[in-house]
Amino acid sequence: MRLVGNHLHRLRELSRVVGPARALWIAPAWSVSRRYLVIARDLREAIDLPGPGPELRCTEANRDEAKKLTQLDPRLTRMELDRRFTEGQICHIWWVDERIVHLRWFTDRRAFLPFLGLTFRPQDGDYLLYEVFTRADRRVRGIHSLVAGASLRRARDLGYRRMVALCAWWNTPALKVGWKTGFRSVGTITAWQLGPNRLFTNSGEVSVRGTEMSVKGAVKGARHISSVERICP
Ligand SMILES: CC(C)(COP(=O)(O)OP(=O)(O)OC[C@H]1O[C@@H](n2cnc3c(N)ncnc32)[C@H](O)[C@@H]1OP(=O)(O)O)[C@@H](O)C(=O)NCCC(=O)NCCS
Repeated sequence: MRLVGNHLHRLRELSRVVGPARALWIAPAWSVSRRYLVIARDLREAIDLPGPGPELRCTEANRDEAKKLTQLDPRLTRMELDRRFTEGQICHIWWVDERIVHLRWFTDRRAFLPFLGLTFRPQDGDYLLYEVFTRADRRVRGIHSLVAGASLRRARDLGYRRMVALCAWWNTPALKVGWKTGFRSVGTITAWQLGPNRLFTNSGEVSVRGTEMSVKGAVKGARHISSVERICP
């Protein structure tokens, strides 16, 4: 049941972004060929972006808040949450009053990408923006855009040199915010589902070795961050 629910949720999300007519051909094509743009933001470049106002407040999520997170984003099962926390991923919750409006997941460690079936291996200095999510009834109000500036500055201040993210080719809102906050496309990765087999094709700076993917162009001299420093902006 949960599986069917997840599929329906994905179809609804797709339809919200591309409209119901395009969703009808993108959904079946997507089940065979999933192309993601890999985008990166050099954190050494100026980050001249507005930040969120005082009405938006950030906390770092912990496992005790699992129920709140799974209720907000139906794709987040308890198992998926556990995996992310066990991998050492950081989740920032953005609140308006007592209501969660936005989630952002980050990591500088290896992270499994279930939508591709590959593990992302960050280079030194890389910070992977693993996922962003705005509550459905708060979308297109600039939340992701405002919070993006704060996240980029925080990552730079912590010593990271590059923020990397993956975006489905059809995800216009996510890509729009990416371009306007200084990300550039550095390549693509496509997963082809051919019967029981999954094959990958990649382009640009994206490299795939076995079950791991990474983005070339390691930034020298970067450091890994201790957990104590992982604070909200
Ligand atoms: C992607 C997502 C996080 C964006 O959050 P948001 O808070 O609504 O983003 P913003 O309001 O800051 O900006 C959205 C931009 O996309 C535009 N946009 C929204 N829907 C659009 C559509 N269907 N077609 C074209 N542009 C669209 C908005 O106009 C806005 O652009 P602008 O700032 O130039 O006006 C949100 O749509 C979401 O949670 N989607 C589901 C999860 C997801 O897809 N995450 C990304 C992959 S990890």
